[in-house]
Amino acid sequence: VKITRRQWIGLGLGSVPVLAVADAFLVEPGWIRQTDVVLDPGRRTCRLVHFTDLHYRGDELALLALVKRIDRLAPDLVCFTGDIAEELKYADEALKILRAMKAPLYGVPGNHEGWSGVDAGKISEAFAATGGAWLPDRWAYALSSQVRITGVDQAPGKATPEEGKLNILLMHYPAFADRLEGKKFDLILAGHSHGGQVRLPLVGAPVVPFDVGKYQRGLYSTPAGPLYVGTGIGWYGVRARFLCRPEIAVITV
Ligand SMILES: [Fe+2]
Repeated sequence: VKITRRQWIGLGLGSVPVLAVADAFLVEPGWIRQTDVVLDPGRRTCRLVHFTDLHYRGDELALLALVKRIDRLAPDLVCFTGDIAEELKYADEALKILRAMKAPLYGVPGNHEGWSGVDAGKISEAFAATGGAWLPDRWAYALSSQVRITGVDQAPGKATPEEGKLNILLMHYPAFADRLEGKKFDLILAGHSHGGQVRLPLVGAPVVPFDVGKYQRGLYSTPAGPLYVGTGIGWYGVRARFLCRPEIAVITV
């Protein structure tokens, strides 16, 4: 059988959707990328790992591998910006794995902490076991008090930086960056968007959740300071990602 040039082209083009679907369902959801960001090369007070939106659904090996990967990066501290477990029944196992993290782990709740009904005391206890803290509308010092980490739950307006410290702000919802009432932070971290999770060439993300606004993923300059929005580890809806791999960010600030 002789295949003409036109038929070859047809075959090639025809395979594009098949490859895209295979990528979205089989490749990207489990293929975590590392993004490196150096905010101020002259300062370098702190090197942290940011991850977000775990949406843990019982994939123990994947979470163990993630914690090991973060441990190997040996950051000064680790920041998490919400959505630990997809459902209440997965929360204990997720916390059991997270509490073994070597660097101090700081975090704030996402919408799934509220929806799943997970006990905030248990989360708090697991984060404290790493030397870090769970910070819903609270703050803590880190790194021999050089760093002040402020966490937002529902009240971004209450978040206050402290003079003379490196001020890091953790929040779930990227759009909260516009509700910080003129205050300035050295770094703001957020999640929730999943980067859109599925992005189309030229179009971008057809769907993003509420309270993402214009801050879908990556680094933004905002009036309140540099904002980094992580694409998250897990997924909502179906286990699919396209042109939007899950991510951990190594940020030097
Ligand atoms: Fe999420």
